Amino acid sequence: MKTLKNKVIAITGAGSGIGRALALDAAKQGASVAICDRNADSLAETVALLGDAPHLATVVDVRSDAEVLAFAAAVAEKFGPAHVIVNNAGVALSHYFDSQSREDFEWVMDINFWGVVRGTEAFLPQLKTHDDAHIVNISSLFGLVGVPSQSAYNASKFAVRGLSESLRQELHDTPIHVSCVHPGGIDTNIIRNGKHLQGADGKPTTTASLARSFARTTSTTPDGAASIIWAGVLRNRGRILIGPETYAMDLVQRLLPAGYPAVLRPFLRIFSTKQR
Ligand SMILES: NC(=O)c1ccc[n+]([C@@H]2O[C@H](COP(=O)([O-])OP(=O)(O)OC[C@H]3O[C@@H](n4cnc5c(N)ncnc54)[C@H](O)[C@@H]3O)[C@@H](O)[C@H]2O)c1
Repeated sequence: MKTLKNKVIAITGAGSGIGRALALDAAKQGASVAICDRNADSLAETVALLGDAPHLATVVDVRSDAEVLAFAAAVAEKFGPAHVIVNNAGVALSHYFDSQSREDFEWVMDINFWGVVRGTEAFLPQLKTHDDAHIVNISSLFGLVGVPSQSAYNASKFAVRGLSESLRQELHDTPIHVSCVHPGGIDTNIIRNGKHLQGADGKPTTTASLARSFARTTSTTPDGAASIIWAGVLRNRGRILIGPETYAMDLVQRLLPAGYPAVLRPFLRIFSTKQR
């Protein structure tokens, strides 16, 4: 894709953070943006920021097949078939595997992984009508390396990466491109919107305390992340990494596919100490 101008771009989870920044940036570049979020208030704030730019906004829970399909139908009706779907909606959970509930694990998978599957299924027929289209799936640095207390989040983000890398090959001879995005720490509401009971060191934590230490360690703003993502899409990059920590851990993981946790451990200790 050479330009976002006059493209129809659908984004899930656009009421906050990276999704909101992607919507505002795409609108600035001349796209029509269709946004959704589970949170009606924050979605309305994004709508206000979009001003006169052509847009459509719908309250959608990506856990619902029917709501995601209705969103896709509303987009096609208002703007015609979408050229781009950004599967961005996500939540975070910090809890050790042996004490977290199955319900919490399924909550993370249902949004972070199945939400991406639902968005892709709903929009693929629309993307197929164009001679240039793009699927953008938001994974994470934690889709590249595993971290204690993140078993559910890691599983969901590794799954998004696997899905994206397979889909990219299946669609190779078609005009539909697939990018998998791996952000490091981006200063958004991801921690405040999540559930956090244990830190990486296994000690009890709270959402407020983790949010404070997370804010001190983020490397990139949502606007910065959005411009890296759109630049990657415009260059048809299959893999988009964001933040120096992501580049560093990607390299360490390639060099030491089984041994990288030993390199990670001292950093996790510093992060855990900062929380208290
Ligand atoms: N912030 C980071 O450091 C970071 C790092 C790596 C990956 N990510 C990923 O980036 C994506 C965006 O997160 P963010 O950092 O902007 O967080 P955020 O919390 O600021 O935004 C996420 C948005 O998704 C929405 N959402 C949550 N559950 C939903 C559901 N069931 N249906 C519809 N919308 C839902 C939320 O209401 C929120 O508006 C997520 O997939 C996240 O996992 C974030």
